[in-house]
Amino acid sequence: MAPAMKGLILSGGRGTRLRPITHTSAKQLVPVANKPVLFYGIEAMAAAGIGEIGIIIAPETGDEIRSAAGDGSAFGVRITYVVQDEPAGLAHAVLTAEPFLGDSSFVMYLGDNLLQGGIAELVAAFEAERPDALILLTPVPDPQNYGVAELEAVAGSERGRVVRLVEKPSAPKTDLALVGVYMFTAGIHDAARAIVPSARGELEITDAIQFLVDGGRRVEPYVVKGWWKDTGRLADMLEANRLVLETLVGRSEGELVDSQVEGSVVIEPGARLERSTVRGPAIIGSGARLIDAYVGPYTAVGEGCRIERAEVEHSILLVGSSVIGLDGRMESSLLGRNVVIRRADAQPRAFRFMVGDNSEIEIL
Ligand code: DAU
Repeated sequence: MAPAMKGLILSGGRGTRLRPITHTSAKQLVPVANKPVLFYGIEAMAAAGIGEIGIIIAPETGDEIRSAAGDGSAFGVRITYVVQDEPAGLAHAVLTAEPFLGDSSFVMYLGDNLLQGGIAELVAAFEAERPDALILLTPVPDPQNYGVAELEAVAGSERGRVVRLVEKPSAPKTDLALVGVYMFTAGIHDAARAIVPSARGELEITDAIQFLVDGGRRVEPYVVKGWWKDTGRLADMLEANRLVLETLVGRSEGELVDSQVEGSVVIEPGARLERSTVRGPAIIGSGARLIDAYVGPYTAVGEGCRIERAEVEHSILLVGSSVIGLDGRMESSLLGRNVVIRRADAQPRAFRFMVGDNSEIEIL
């Protein structure tokens, strides 16, 4: 019998597109509906019956990821951490994990990706059909930002055949992007060893898969049915937050004083609402305080946050942040940990900022 399939989650890399949040925190730990993105990948693997998961970490953010995900027992899996010294590419990450993976087949999941519906069906299909690789694809409006696949029709096959894969082409031939979930047999290690770094200086998994295609190996394409999000950029992060919040079933374990909740809203234990309205879908984290506040749809308010005399909508607030006394409504925003935004009491009434590197502020 073939050895059990393993899991490999990539949580290294730099996270340049979500700075300044990712100056101090790993991008895979930014929460979507108050849960780190990374946890969705671990849970998807656990639900597909994968018990052994390796997580690639970078030296800079690895400790934070270790302490968040632990030994995996909270998810019913065993986690092994694999340090990748530099973000030299996804295929480099696979090679770094070779001692952990051995000759097992594995699912590789990019730690900042979210895939609706999980991977159980795909893992079952891979184990039944045993191709050399299975890749997930989805049409996107901006294929130049992704790995892009060209397929060819095959008589009698619904899926077709992979002809070419190109990483971030300037003139994409199709709109089919490679989703950050892949299934491989151990043959991918030799493919990763055979390729050379790309123009951006990385060993691309896209090139390693192309190497398999060129060698006549079976690379099965699978177009995903549900939604998929790479949360690397702010707009995608907010969109992922919206999509996940839409699936939550409302419940209230907090305290409501002269307050209303409309639609699907999760209020976690110890949260307190006074003279406030929350219109779901939304989540209010434990210990958060809402006072004379309005929280609108698609908002995730982290643990211990405070919103007072303010309106917030379509936003993500990380642990310990506050928004106090705003005239207008804050919208489509991502606040890091312990951020304070408040109306000045003292004269002169002016804008006063203390803002970290690479922050972005838009005012009325
Ligand atoms: O999101 C899907 C796209 O992911 C695919 O369409 C592309 O073909 C694929 O190359 C990849 O592109 P990105 O440029 O978005 O990958 P990114 O650098 O954001 O890295 C993805 C994840 O892998 C992220 O969680 C960081 C981690 N990583 C990245 C590198 C380069 C590592 O763990 N080690 C690395 O060396």
